[in-house]
Amino acid sequence: MARPYQPSLLRLLHGATALLVPLAWLTGLLVYSDYDGRIGRLPLTLPGEWIDIHGTVGVLLWPIALLFGLYALTAGRARLRQPANAIALLALVLAVGSGKLMEEDWLRDGQFQHAVYSVHLLAWLLIALAVALHVAAVLRRGGWPLARSMASVQVRAGDLPGQWFGQIRRSFKAGR
Ligand code: HEM
Repeated sequence: MARPYQPSLLRLLHGATALLVPLAWLTGLLVYSDYDGRIGRLPLTLPGEWIDIHGTVGVLLWPIALLFGLYALTAGRARLRQPANAIALLALVLAVGSGKLMEEDWLRDGQFQHAVYSVHLLAWLLIALAVALHVAAVLRRGGWPLARSMASVQVRAGDLPGQWFGQIRRSFKAGR
């Protein structure tokens, strides 16, 4: 069987997303434990302004998630036919979208009643489940070769950064 190959622009955007999502998730857990903790707290308190750190990760993540989402809906559309890929994208949109609507003083002031905060907490749970499902589906479908293809740094001729724009443009034509 031919070795799976992922387009370089997909690998770049997916890689940045896959690095930042776990960082956002973990820093979000520390924020929850420090400021909310209604369901429980971590047994340790790590020093740090976790609201600010989580916010900074969010500021880095949202433009990348936006570009990744646009890529997935255009040049990457065929991959979204895999339900686990589409679910991962939806969970990402929900987490980033609700995070953008959060105000940083809510938790500092003990205001847990905001609907947006409840949605953001739910999204935090959903993205963990969605990514676990997504990785399991990738491994079931293509095993390590498919999973590794997303982390490969090889670039084929015709897939260099100068050709990214053309790839997106062609995907619009193909969709018509
Ligand atoms: C951490 C958060 C992650 C998110 C939000 C995410 C999301 C996505 C999405 C939306 C796609 C479809 C892209 C498109 O339509 O072009 C995709 C594809 C893919 N992802 Fe992830 N992903 C994540 C993590 C991972 C991890 C850790 C792996 C490693 C196993 C992985 C492996 C893959 C592979 C191999 C594909 C291509 C699958 C295919 O051809 O159907 N992803 N991912």
